[in-house]
Amino acid sequence: MISNRAKELSSSQTLKITAKAKELARQGVSVISLSAGEPDFKTAPHICNAAIEAITEGFHGYTMNTGMPELREAVAAKLKRENKLDYQPYEIILSNGAKQSIGFALLATINPKDEVLIPAPYWVSYPEMVKMADGTPVTIKTTFANNYKLTPKQLKESITRKTKGLILCSPSNPTGACYTKNELKELADVLSEHPDIIIFSDEIYEYITFEGDHVSILNVAPALKDRTILVNGFSKGFAMTGWRLGYAAGPKPVIDAIAKIQSQETSAPSSISQKAGIAAYTGSMKQVSDMRQAFKERRNFLVNELRSIEGVDCFVPSGAFYIFPDISRFLGKKTPDGDKIKTSTDLCIYLLEKHGLATVPGDAFGEPGGLRISYAASMENLKEGMIRLKNGLSSLS
Ligand SMILES: Cc1ncc(COP(=O)(O)O)c(C=O)c1O
Repeated sequence: MISNRAKELSSSQTLKITAKAKELARQGVSVISLSAGEPDFKTAPHICNAAIEAITEGFHGYTMNTGMPELREAVAAKLKRENKLDYQPYEIILSNGAKQSIGFALLATINPKDEVLIPAPYWVSYPEMVKMADGTPVTIKTTFANNYKLTPKQLKESITRKTKGLILCSPSNPTGACYTKNELKELADVLSEHPDIIIFSDEIYEYITFEGDHVSILNVAPALKDRTILVNGFSKGFAMTGWRLGYAAGPKPVIDAIAKIQSQETSAPSSISQKAGIAAYTGSMKQVSDMRQAFKERRNFLVNELRSIEGVDCFVPSGAFYIFPDISRFLGKKTPDGDKIKTSTDLCIYLLEKHGLATVPGDAFGEPGGLRISYAASMENLKEGMIRLKNGLSSLS
């Protein structure tokens, strides 16, 4: 009964750990969860009020398939004001989250067997989305020494005649690394020699950067604009994960193709969320900067804690709310019960079952030597989490 397409998809490994953590918590076990992919903050009141107003005023119908004109205008104005990028409203499409924007952008551009380059560690959904578009995901292993960032040499060596796309994610989930202007320029120089490659630039963590403002590849290489699909949304920066609102900005033919797919699959995002989106992009940014400050303090705390653990190595992530230490030196060790920790998944399950700490294994992101720790959690939980991590790791032999 099940299609080959569905059979070939992997289900999310992140969800496996989350489900286990939830089950343990349900049984009354104390679990500190540092596995969340969403801010531990609530959406700002002025955004919520815009949505409440939309409901009470009866704004209940379908909107235009591409999103409300006012919101497309607000996104264009935001891209100009904050990112110094020129887009017309018709070059923007709103979707049910950045996830859908990326998925539909791939469906709109990738043909069977086209290769899409994905630097690893990567966000879990990229390879599966490429497969759903009948493309071939080609992962490029990056190194801890280079903060898991793609180098121009690696990019150059990975390009073949079949390469149709490159997915860039900065700030990165799962590593928190951000590409610098220079690094993006060097990648852009390689791409400029390959005019058929489409760049999917996932900038969903744009507002969570700690060392200066966010940089998009289009800021350093405007010439790539006619083959770049910029993806962003409201989930992370405004703590609006459940509202399901994101967008793609790109060349009109691509946006039109995405609109066609969207019109047959999901119509438009929620009218209520779109009103909230307008409030987010036209209102106060105080909560955004307060969250950024809180994340920065937590990041600094975690870097110090992790670096104090023997055998753990980590670099200072400059964005998002994740830290991705190298835990490879613990692979091959044994638990006090005599079980061998063969993989980062084994390590995560051990930390969860024996020490009540939920994290996400690097395996889920295509990097076996890592562990993703989310600091979208209170300082109190982070402190307790680090105690549990230290206990867990020091018990291995
Ligand atoms: C790198 C990355 N891109 C996209 C998304 C999807 O965001 P949205 O909630 O807008 O669909 C996420 C969410 O976890 C993410 O981490």
